[in-house]
Amino acid sequence: MTAAQKIIIDTDPGQDDAVAILLALASHELDIVGITAVAGNVPLALTEKNTRKICELAGRRDVPVYAGAVRPMVNELVTAEHVHGKTGLDGPDLPEPTMPLQEQHAVDFIIQTLMGHPPGDITLCTLGPLTNIALALVRQPEIAPRIKQIVMMGGGFFEGGNITPAAEFNIYVDPHAADVVFRSQVPIVVMPLDVTHKALTSASRIAAIRELGSPVGIATAEMLEFFERFDEEKYGSDGGPLHDPCVIAYLLKPELFRGRRCNVSVETASELTLGMTVVDWWQVTDRPANALVMRDIDDEGFFKLLTERLARL
Ligand code: RIB
Ligand code: CA
Repeated sequence: MTAAQKIIIDTDPGQDDAVAILLALASHELDIVGITAVAGNVPLALTEKNTRKICELAGRRDVPVYAGAVRPMVNELVTAEHVHGKTGLDGPDLPEPTMPLQEQHAVDFIIQTLMGHPPGDITLCTLGPLTNIALALVRQPEIAPRIKQIVMMGGGFFEGGNITPAAEFNIYVDPHAADVVFRSQVPIVVMPLDVTHKALTSASRIAAIRELGSPVGIATAEMLEFFERFDEEKYGSDGGPLHDPCVIAYLLKPELFRGRRCNVSVETASELTLGMTVVDWWQVTDRPANALVMRDIDDEGFFKLLTERLARL
């Protein structure tokens, strides 16, 4: 059996982050070295607490959780309680966490972990704004060549934006951090709205998860039923896009996804298109390809994988 992939999950839970974390915790192919929280969907005090709630829901008090950036690098924090609810994890009624938050700052943990492991050992899975990752890269640029890859949920191109007509939330909240990451020369895999909007929940898909009957299955169903309402109302769809679990699913079954290597550049100045990811999909410029950008998913296979794995918790 091949050795488990060592990963750090950087996250702003958020119901879809929670499902991504549960999928990772249920998968023996992944060794979660630590989970770092960042301000995004809700403020940091809630994203770090929600991260610990999710670890305890999965019975994994052993996973170290770190708090990171309390706000973006330059811009003011923009949150998304309108999507995720006041707590950021509305839906299930999860108990207050009892596992401790690590003392060390998330950025220091990311740097220490990358410098302390052989180059190419650690994958960064980013599920929220990229503030922690960019701060680590600026603080200690030597970590860049040591990162195996960054697999991120963020951006959108053909699908447009979800927080503005042009920008996806994770990139919009901290466009300067995203710019640092896309210029870092680190191998990047991007799960933009173009692919996550094809990973839609549905009544039957949520029912299959609820029918697991476990605390994890029931809580996940409750999270998804709360989370999907926003997108259903907005897009008139039956179900909401399960954004962040696409990042973890890629590590488990990359064949579920299809995309191409191309250049991704981030708008950091224009008021109209701030946070837009300009994807040179048709390679009409000489900008170097800096990311593998996903556009298609086998959504049946994705939900089959997710449900099978959640059954293990
Ligand atoms: O735009 C979707 C992304 O923003 C997801 O990561 C969701 O959790 C929010 O952080
Ligand atoms: Ca997220």
